[in-house]
Amino acid sequence: MKKKIAYWMIALGVLFSACDETQKQDAGVDRETEKKIEALIKKMTIEEKLGQMNQISAWSNIEEMSGMIKEGQVGSILNEVEPKRINALQKVAVEESRLGIPILIARDVIHGYRTIFPIPLGQGATFNPALAKAGARVAAIEATSHGIRWTFAPMIDVARDPRWGRIAEGYGEDPYLTSVMGVATIEGFQTDSLGNPTALAACPKHFVGYGAAEGGRDYNSTGLSERTLRNIYFPPFEAAVKAGAATIMTSFNDNDGIPSTGNSFILRDVLRREWGFDGIVVSDWASVTEMINHGFAADAAEAAMKAISAGVDMEMVSASFITNGPQLAKEYKVKEHDINNAVRCILRIKFRLGLFDNPYVNEMQPDVLYAPSHLAEAKEAATQSVILLKNDNNTLPVKKDVKTILVTGPMADAPFDQLGTWVFDGDKNHSITPLQALRQMLGSDVQVIHEPALTYSRELNTPGIAKAVAAAQRADVILAFVGEEAILSGEAHCLANLNLQGDQSQLIKALAKTGKPVVTTVMAGRPLCIGEEVEVSSAVLYAFHPGTMGGPALADLIMGVANPSGKTPVTFPKVVGQVPIFYAHHSTGRPFNGTETLIHDIPAEAGQTSLGCTCYYLDAGFHPLFPFGYGLSYTTFEYGAVQLSATQVKKDDTMTIEFDLTNTGSVVGTEVVQLYVQDIVGSVTRPVKELKRFERITLQPGEKQRVKFTLPIEELAFWNIDMKKVVEPGDFKLWVAKDSQSGEAVNFKVVE
Ligand code: NOJ
Repeated sequence: MKKKIAYWMIALGVLFSACDETQKQDAGVDRETEKKIEALIKKMTIEEKLGQMNQISAWSNIEEMSGMIKEGQVGSILNEVEPKRINALQKVAVEESRLGIPILIARDVIHGYRTIFPIPLGQGATFNPALAKAGARVAAIEATSHGIRWTFAPMIDVARDPRWGRIAEGYGEDPYLTSVMGVATIEGFQTDSLGNPTALAACPKHFVGYGAAEGGRDYNSTGLSERTLRNIYFPPFEAAVKAGAATIMTSFNDNDGIPSTGNSFILRDVLRREWGFDGIVVSDWASVTEMINHGFAADAAEAAMKAISAGVDMEMVSASFITNGPQLAKEYKVKEHDINNAVRCILRIKFRLGLFDNPYVNEMQPDVLYAPSHLAEAKEAATQSVILLKNDNNTLPVKKDVKTILVTGPMADAPFDQLGTWVFDGDKNHSITPLQALRQMLGSDVQVIHEPALTYSRELNTPGIAKAVAAAQRADVILAFVGEEAILSGEAHCLANLNLQGDQSQLIKALAKTGKPVVTTVMAGRPLCIGEEVEVSSAVLYAFHPGTMGGPALADLIMGVANPSGKTPVTFPKVVGQVPIFYAHHSTGRPFNGTETLIHDIPAEAGQTSLGCTCYYLDAGFHPLFPFGYGLSYTTFEYGAVQLSATQVKKDDTMTIEFDLTNTGSVVGTEVVQLYVQDIVGSVTRPVKELKRFERITLQPGEKQRVKFTLPIEELAFWNIDMKKVVEPGDFKLWVAKDSQSGEAVNFKVVE
């Protein structure tokens, strides 16, 4: 009897958990499609189901791949970009495999397919979701024209450590900015309907916490508490799910001892049950079997068991599901129910993409790669991504009457490196470099001398510096393009030293000694520690890696055809030892109070004193080199007094925040106005500031505009001491400012 009750309890438990998952997933589901999915699942053998859960990376031998497809062993292929081959493989899937299920073709299309946009961190600097969306649309149109229907982007890992090479691939340190830019990118890839033949299924990644890799070393462990996950690292993913992201990728890291690929809390409890995600969860590249290296699984069979049970639907390349799945199912080590759910999600996305109706790519369609409109979008994105960090004596824009310009530095004419990381398909021959663009723009009116000084960013002991210094004597202004080659950021390319590489710093300092104005432009995959170079330069532009059209964008900015409007999407440290450094830190018990005793202020044989007893470094102080949200313009903006709709609000109220913004300079310009809030006292300590809204406002000289933000008070909710997401009543501060360190606070109160 006892046994029977136990049996029924287990059976009911399984039923309830299944319903629980599907009920949530049912929202917005097309019943006809679901029926077709169920009918297919009924026909499938366990091997065919595991075949759908298998993603292979394309290899050259098409016969071998076709053989696997025919047997129903492949659900998806990544890295196949030849339309003819894609169609041939689809033909085998649709016409020769038993059930005719089409293949899902995937590729990392991260910041453009052929037309390359600024790296995502540069896109973050635009604070312009409309641009991100337009860029993703261009990428999708180009990629789908080659038969790709799934991209592994956007990367929405909050990243607060520039040593981590992958900081280049996301939108920086802030969860709100990352959410807004991530959602816009997803909308651009997917459009309103995945069935649109130019829609790419998006794959927000890497779920979760990957950007917090200890020490900024890629793949490293993380130790994020559930509250930190929920308050900082989950929000971009939750926003992505709400925006309809078709798929999600698990991350490589183990958090608090559990690799994401085997973590049912994040995949089932949060992603499926709390957020109602009904798309595909794909592992990262071999992250299933890498659980053996983590010491989380003894062998591939155990790794497969843990990943399937945790909620991974598709395994990228390591093939442990297809190899071990049948036996695991036979021994009841994995539930067929879990396998069915995984297959359901995979088929659902294939149906939504319209692959069952038309799996083929039109090989005859007109060429859309590098279309003029695509290049124009890429140029606009690059223009808006550039941050003006310094502009002494209005060195920029370069005056119209200059006669001779020296263009120097390893990034001045680096068509490959200006594209940045994660560019598999972009062609450097289509890049326009700053040197080319300046020459084209200035024609014979201005003499452009090119003396590269260094041939690549890491070059040492170069005699080129002397040549550049000699050439500088003949120039009215020096344009030095320095930074990092593309290979120095991105996956696995982490750095312990964030200074300019090679002899680049020597180059800038030697040029500055000539007394001529030096305009330094940095192209890099991360914020670099450039304090000394900023100090000696008259003006500094930070361009991240600006992509195919980086040159024309920079030429416009340098010559004043365009006005810089980018803002730092991440805090720039003075020295690497300050890392991690980000604006939204919590307040300590001894917060920085504005007084710094620095290392050279300390007398010899000073007795043990507390030196102010606040939270800063003796040798680097408290402040970063540049704070989050920082960026100058060729014009100036004045912020008027902030007016709140009420200074006492209820939790379900919506507050409006208004102020006047005036362009007080003499040229048209765009300001990114930013709204920050601090919840002063909480049941757990809260960040000193959090970005809640931002907007780009373009004003003519002298123009004034009333700017209005709307903020539902429920957006002040956070995961509190009881691990509940609530707005806690109390006092708040609010700033409207040009960056995270400016502005006068106004106060308001939230009441029950
Ligand atoms: C590994 C990377 O972590 C991931 O971001 C990428 O999408 C996959 N490889 C596929 O290339």
